[in-house]
Amino acid sequence: MHKKRHIHELHVLFQGILNLGTSENKLCYDIIHERLTRPGMNSLDPHLLQYSNVQGLESFREEIAKFLTEYARAQNPLDPEHIVVMNGCCSVLASLTAVLCDSEDAYLIPTPYYGSVYPDSWLYGKVRPVHVQLDSKMSDGESHPFMLTVKKLEDAMTEATKQGIRVRALILINPHNPLGDIYPAHLLKECLDFAHRYGLHVIIDEIYMLSVYDGTFASVHSLDRLPDPERTHIIWGFSKDFAMCGVRVGTVYTQSQEVRKALNQLACFHGCAGPVQQLLSRLIWDQEWINNTFLPANRRRLLKSRSILVNGLQKLNIPVLKGFAGLFVWADFRKFLKTQTFEAEMDLWWKLIHEKVYISPGQAFYCSEPGWFRLVFSDTVNKIQLGIERLQQALGVLAAFDSEDIPTPVSGEESTSEPEMIDSDATQLKKIVVY
Ligand SMILES: Cc1ncc(COP(=O)(O)O)c(C=O)c1O
Repeated sequence: MHKKRHIHELHVLFQGILNLGTSENKLCYDIIHERLTRPGMNSLDPHLLQYSNVQGLESFREEIAKFLTEYARAQNPLDPEHIVVMNGCCSVLASLTAVLCDSEDAYLIPTPYYGSVYPDSWLYGKVRPVHVQLDSKMSDGESHPFMLTVKKLEDAMTEATKQGIRVRALILINPHNPLGDIYPAHLLKECLDFAHRYGLHVIIDEIYMLSVYDGTFASVHSLDRLPDPERTHIIWGFSKDFAMCGVRVGTVYTQSQEVRKALNQLACFHGCAGPVQQLLSRLIWDQEWINNTFLPANRRRLLKSRSILVNGLQKLNIPVLKGFAGLFVWADFRKFLKTQTFEAEMDLWWKLIHEKVYISPGQAFYCSEPGWFRLVFSDTVNKIQLGIERLQQALGVLAAFDSEDIPTPVSGEESTSEPEMIDSDATQLKKIVVY
């Protein structure tokens, strides 16, 4: 079909605001639907209609333990008794921070980060973040923008202590949302050692563990030694890796009996329906299906959608950080900001909304620099193509209206039109990791 006609038809088909902002995987409904509706999947045992163990059904925790042992490549078989099941990882994050910290205590967290951690931890426990500011500027010895180092953790810890803030935990997201980064095993170990030195708990959110499309992921479960096992708490759930955020199931693995006991007090408000646990047990029991059907198809589709989005952004001359995992890319829209401020970032966001495309601004992730956006690619090819089209329209309109203030994106190395204050960063970015 002629491209223009195709795009026109897509506009007509999707008249509302196109959502490339919410981190949902919409690529695998067909495969999952087929597996979940096979005979035997939905039989209902009588006990599932009664109250059950608040920590999660034993049979489900056994399957989760086997699943994580296999897919997180745990050193030793994981113990089902160390698992607590809740209705989603948000509930786990809210409960864990409330249990580990007193109100007004804080946790260290590198920015940008999945923004809901803040309200989740504040709502229950009145626990707040101490931001470890990462940005796109690379210092000596750093291999990529927004790179986490233990020195940055140390500096943030020192500063917080100076200000009289009691830091009780370190929260890490790996694979990272929104950067799409994977922490190498040596960095993970250094972070765990750092936390141990300061007596901090570590909450590590591995919700994107299997949504890796490039490179390899090392789970904390796979490390040969944990410096402080009782203070290491590992989160995983079904929302991303099994493309089913609607089922609302998250888990935490913690070796601390005390923490589990406290979590179980809150778990009675965050229970996960018995029939759902049973259904998911049957799903993850089938490793043959996971290995030979689901995972290869999911990876293939993620890669395809991602390359369509990245190529489209490249054509609009929008730099994208190299990512390895997750359902999104982290892109640099700084040249479209009137001024390098968060107000201008919001103005740009509204302009995009008016053009009926929703992407997430960096400030939703507490990014320290204005102008970065997260774009989700785990949707159909048609929607990604339409998203690119609407971005082009919005950014073209922007350039036409504000051509005196905002440099129009131009292609090629000879571009000189970026605002002065970001020039050196942009050059640096071009050299290393930007597509
Ligand atoms: C890093 C991270 N943790 C947790 C969640 C929430 O997970 P759930 O749907 O299990 O509550 C998300 C969802 O976007 C996420 O990106």
